[in-house]
Amino acid sequence: MTPPPQPEIERVLFTEDQIAARIKEIAGGISDRYRSRNLKLIGVLKGSVFFLTALARELTIPVKIDFLGISSFTDKARGSGLVRIAKDLDDPIEGEDVLLVEDIVDTGLTSRYLLQILAGRSPNSLGLCTLLDRTSRRLVQVPVEFRCFEIPDRFVVGFGLDYKQLYRNLGYIAVMNPDKGR
Ligand code: IMP
Repeated sequence: MTPPPQPEIERVLFTEDQIAARIKEIAGGISDRYRSRNLKLIGVLKGSVFFLTALARELTIPVKIDFLGISSFTDKARGSGLVRIAKDLDDPIEGEDVLLVEDIVDTGLTSRYLLQILAGRSPNSLGLCTLLDRTSRRLVQVPVEFRCFEIPDRFVVGFGLDYKQLYRNLGYIAVMNPDKGR
């Protein structure tokens, strides 16, 4: 499918078909890993919603879903991710096998903070799954167990990722024009 022209978008990085195929592959690995366990996917609002729902539909095991809402203030000078929980989980995760589902792991600060919070709630296991991984900008190490795509150091939008809250609904993932984004 040819994407509609968007002035702020430079080029398509991953098409809808490429994303769907990769999510199916990842879902196969997750279904194998968590067979006969109590998997709960935890999505981070709003960016991971599109990925989480697509992933969940490809899983062949029973799965529960919950969401965290956050506000991020990244203080890179201090190397710390200042994240506020704006919407907490609906239910406890004690004793469950939890997979945190992210749209992108960039510096790693947000994921590290969320993993720490979740670990403190005594899940049986805790893993991290991300649609996009930009390891070139990592400030802190986080254990990414499942990832769909490694991406270059360019600001991207689509499939849940936004620029000023726009473009989340694109079915593909695209690179922004250099004068936009960061
Ligand atoms: P981190 O804490 O630096 O790993 O950043 C994580 C968050 O930054 C993601 O969940 C996104 O909301 C946002 N982010 C980082 N890179 C991009 C991008 O290229 N496009 C859109 N959002 C991004």
